[in-house]
Amino acid sequence: MTKKVALLGGSFDPVHNGHIAMADAALEKLGVDEVWLIPASQSPLKSRILTQGSKRLAMLRLVCQHHPQFRICDVELKRHGVSYTIDTLKTLHDQYPDYEFYWLLGADQAAQFEQWKDSQTLKTLAHFAVAERGEVLEKIGIPKGFIPLPMEPVDVSSSQIRNGKRLNLMPDYIRQYILDEELYLTWWIKPQMNPARFAHSNSVARVCRELAKAHGYDEHKAYLAGLFHDVAKDMPKAEMEKWIRACFPEAINEHHAIWHGYVGSQVIDRVFGIHDPMIANAIGNHVKGTSYDPYAMMVFIADKVDPLRGYDSSALYHACLHDLYNGFLLVKAENKAFLEKEKQKHGTL
Ligand SMILES: [Fe+2]
Ligand SMILES: [Fe+2]
Repeated sequence: MTKKVALLGGSFDPVHNGHIAMADAALEKLGVDEVWLIPASQSPLKSRILTQGSKRLAMLRLVCQHHPQFRICDVELKRHGVSYTIDTLKTLHDQYPDYEFYWLLGADQAAQFEQWKDSQTLKTLAHFAVAERGEVLEKIGIPKGFIPLPMEPVDVSSSQIRNGKRLNLMPDYIRQYILDEELYLTWWIKPQMNPARFAHSNSVARVCRELAKAHGYDEHKAYLAGLFHDVAKDMPKAEMEKWIRACFPEAINEHHAIWHGYVGSQVIDRVFGIHDPMIANAIGNHVKGTSYDPYAMMVFIADKVDPLRGYDSSALYHACLHDLYNGFLLVKAENKAFLEKEKQKHGTL
């Protein structure tokens, strides 16, 4: 049976709303029957090592569950090595000689098209459709023989998402997958803080995971709470104050050093899509140690016994591995004594 199929190749690391909008535009404006998403094994023009294929495939499978005319085509992943479009199109042409293929590309890719391997032969194997805003297509003038695919592109790239930007421009189920699989998460927090705090956050996350393992709690949940506990600490004070006024007006008179816990508990929910009240509670209480929920105790402990703090906390840590509640009380008492000493030294907190 003859079919019209649009092909969308890419790293999909991760897939986002821009890819989905392009595929939808092909369905709507090119009148194709299906769009096949083709994850690259290794992109020819990028040297970055991609997230493993099985995880990128899993994300695409989720997209296909929500878009019945989308399919996954895994020829490039199966072929391994650098993924050249010419090899892919030849394979598909051999396998489906009656199909009419449309290769989708953005205006920036179209501009580089002559650098693609065997670009002249490529044009005989598929139509090439350039997705862009109508007025941009007119201005840049698309290569001869290419089909214009006017659409409103979604202003997001996979690299922005990997770096924690524009996280609202991907489906919720993809964001949930990223959180569940702990993809990109350290890159998400890195731009939020200074390098020392980034190292501390990773270290706290590790300790939280060990504590959860020792006491039979959810290691992933503990890891997330630890990793994000200081996500708001380097936020400018004026910005933090806005969050406090909006979400925790009763805390406005507390010392601003305490605010970052409260603000962090909201940031993880609203910015990073971590909708877990136990994690929010753990982060919200980590500065003062005011919650006896196990995840809150684990984050408080891990924050204080972090080996990167530069003092020997191993005895305390082992006490906590042995007994979470009593260990927490010990850490809290030590912290109180330390703060008292600091107060005497400096006359303030
Ligand atoms: Fe903190
Ligand atoms: Fe901390």
